Amino acid sequence: MEPHSGERKRETWGSRVGFVMAAAGSAIGLGNIWRFPYLVGKNGGAAFVIIYLAIVILIGLPVMIAEVGLGRFTRRNPVGAFTKAAPNSGWRIVGVLGVITGCGILSYYSVVAGWAIGYTLKAATGAFATLTDPGQTGKLFGQFVGDAWTVLALHAVFMALTVTVVIGGVRRGIERWTLILMPALFLMLLLLVFRSLTLEGAEKGIAFYLQPDFSKVTATTFLAALGQAFFSLSIGMGVMITYGSYLPAREDVVISTAYVCLFDTLAALLAGLAIFPALFAVAEVEPTQGAGLAFVVLPAIFHRIPFGGLFGTVFFVLLTVAALTSAISLLEVCVAYLTDEKGWTRKGACWLVGVVSFLLGIPAALSNGASTFLSNLPVLQMGFLDLMDTIFGNLALTLGALFLCLFVGWRWGPKEALAGAIEGSAYPGLGQPWLFLIRYLCPVAIGTILLQILMNLFGQG
Ligand code: PHE
Repeated sequence: MEPHSGERKRETWGSRVGFVMAAAGSAIGLGNIWRFPYLVGKNGGAAFVIIYLAIVILIGLPVMIAEVGLGRFTRRNPVGAFTKAAPNSGWRIVGVLGVITGCGILSYYSVVAGWAIGYTLKAATGAFATLTDPGQTGKLFGQFVGDAWTVLALHAVFMALTVTVVIGGVRRGIERWTLILMPALFLMLLLLVFRSLTLEGAEKGIAFYLQPDFSKVTATTFLAALGQAFFSLSIGMGVMITYGSYLPAREDVVISTAYVCLFDTLAALLAGLAIFPALFAVAEVEPTQGAGLAFVVLPAIFHRIPFGGLFGTVFFVLLTVAALTSAISLLEVCVAYLTDEKGWTRKGACWLVGVVSFLLGIPAALSNGASTFLSNLPVLQMGFLDLMDTIFGNLALTLGALFLCLFVGWRWGPKEALAGAIEGSAYPGLGQPWLFLIRYLCPVAIGTILLQILMNLFGQG
């Protein structure tokens, strides 16, 4: 047996662009397309956008720099990174939490991505052509997700696709694919924005989306923006530690992560410009978010748009691609752990995690009608998929981000933290301000949303 404790030669990204595309691919996902635009529309338009931007710059970016820096410095998966930076301490548990969270999010993310594949086929074959209102498309969606075999088969197809990419490795799998998929994603997005903005009446949607309304800004607005920023930037579970661990030692972490934040925010803003002008131009339906927006409200308007079938298909391909590049990163976190720490081969690790996440996703897949019990769990009053999202997508990410800040800001040591994250940057002067944010502002802000999440959970129970 060769020694496996992470000492064997580690792959690196082929270029800075490769890292930025892979990390942006992780960040840009379902959250950008079906949640961000709605949050903007409901929370004061441009006023919300300004708050969101400030949060990304002051909290999201510093946390991302810390994660990538920890990864670049230790050259390890999340568990190995904490173990190496603080040997014989309990901090490795934070890494373990990250790996479990990766598997947990992947399990239900893949279910939803499977729906997107199914809807791509529906849109391409004209299944929405005769449906005129959300009542009808809602019924269609209910039938679709209520059919256990179909959703399980699509969940399996998507998981297999993810495994196939990650088996190829960092450079020949993840980097090669994201270098193709991310430009394609932006192209599709721009195409949809163009279609949407050129419809007659588009300005009503722009008004709903962006008209600044500061009267809607309250304390909860900040919390909504903060929660969205974490999920959207993929921080708090070690994706960025893992992707950072494949960076060459000299890479400028500040610049690269700034690009990732920029692309993520840009994609979110564009998604709103693709959705709301079209929605308001053709229909008098209430905008919503999540699955309801993508799978019910939008399919009801495609047929009223010239070449709507084509644009509908593009929309679901876009959703699938966005989900795929995020799923790849979730899988890679678990795979890096198994190969670094447990001596697994990449191929074996990919299949193991893929199968485990598939199995874990089965109850989520059945929780939208196929199983009455799973669709409305007793006491909790929510479906299994929503429960998984609350535990992993919400609670675990926030907890992970909080511990990461406390570790990098207080435990690791300022010299190590600066060497890990800022060394090699073209802007070394940013080191002190960054350290200040990571030590004070970030933990306080993240601690506040954590409290809010816990209070909500208790409030419901
Ligand atoms: N950032 C992804 C999205 O916006 C979700 C994600 C979260 C992916 C955490 C990886 C890790 O949909």
